[in-house]
Amino acid sequence: MQTDFLPLEGTDYVEFYVGNAKQAAHYYMTAFGFQALAYSGPETGIKDKVSYAVRQNKLTFVLTTPLRPFNDIADHIYKHGDGVKAITLRVNDAASAWRETTKRGAKNYLEPVTIKDDDGEVVMSGIHIYGETVHLFVERKNYRGVFLPGYRAWSNPHFLPADAGLLYVDHCVGNVDWNQMNPWVKFYEDVMGFKNILTFDDADISTEYSALMSKVMSSGNGFVKFPINEPAEGKKKSQIEEYLEFYNGEGVQHVALATNDIVKTVRELMSRGVEFLRVPTNYYDDLLDRVGSIDEDLEPLKELGILVDRDNEGYLLQLFSKPVEDRPTLFFEIIQRKGAKSFGKGNFKALFEAIEREQEARGNL
Ligand code: FE2
Repeated sequence: MQTDFLPLEGTDYVEFYVGNAKQAAHYYMTAFGFQALAYSGPETGIKDKVSYAVRQNKLTFVLTTPLRPFNDIADHIYKHGDGVKAITLRVNDAASAWRETTKRGAKNYLEPVTIKDDDGEVVMSGIHIYGETVHLFVERKNYRGVFLPGYRAWSNPHFLPADAGLLYVDHCVGNVDWNQMNPWVKFYEDVMGFKNILTFDDADISTEYSALMSKVMSSGNGFVKFPINEPAEGKKKSQIEEYLEFYNGEGVQHVALATNDIVKTVRELMSRGVEFLRVPTNYYDDLLDRVGSIDEDLEPLKELGILVDRDNEGYLLQLFSKPVEDRPTLFFEIIQRKGAKSFGKGNFKALFEAIEREQEARGNL
């Protein structure tokens, strides 16, 4: 048995570059049930940008905005709109993670650096992945502070939005260009030691109009999963092409957030204004024939538009938001796993038809 040269403890946080971090943080708190956690900016000695960290259970988002034009963050937002910059992975040794990945061909983004404050020290490093997206490695075993050095605790006792039951990042999906899926699969295999655990070709994921291909990459211990999509030829423009056009390149398509009670979570998110894709109600007519018996009542699933799929190991419930910004780019998936380790293949067709109706309305199909 080969030793895992890149042992990952899980997703530590997801950092978004956004046009207005103060308002984005408010959106994730109000709409998705995150709590204020930490703040960094001029008041904490960071002169050129502001970041808000918000947290819900094991899920941490960082919203970062530049304070001036003509820098990497401002350029990123100009080009891509609001989007995911960093998928940050927790490791025991960030210097080793950087060494092992760069020596296998990863392009350096951040050489290992130790950052300190009165609460201890954190080692961070980073590598480039698809588009302008990066993986940061964070080693925080010698840190007792609230988030990271450079941040201070941030809270507002007058604004404590209720938890929506979101627990952790289940998986994080990248959209890459034509013919780029396999090179990125190879990158995750060679550079990160991941395995390709599932493959979907255009026969699996196609509608009358458009198609895509996808491969799911998993870390050795299975804690971190990255499906990678590329467009496939269809009669009309696929959702991946629409993303690539409006994101102006490759990037994170969706982040899947786990819950233990999807009915409760989705009801909560909807009541706070999060919009979801809807499949036609006839999806539910023969649902139980397709997936067998499930613990949940069918009525609330139908009312909220929650999708169900089964694999050899169990079943899963899932639902996809509409894009969370004006460009048709990043969206979220809410997922509850009941044994299933797959990604909802049985729902792809119904789902993509729902996405195509949205594309059509935008004039992008
Ligand atoms: Fe997903």
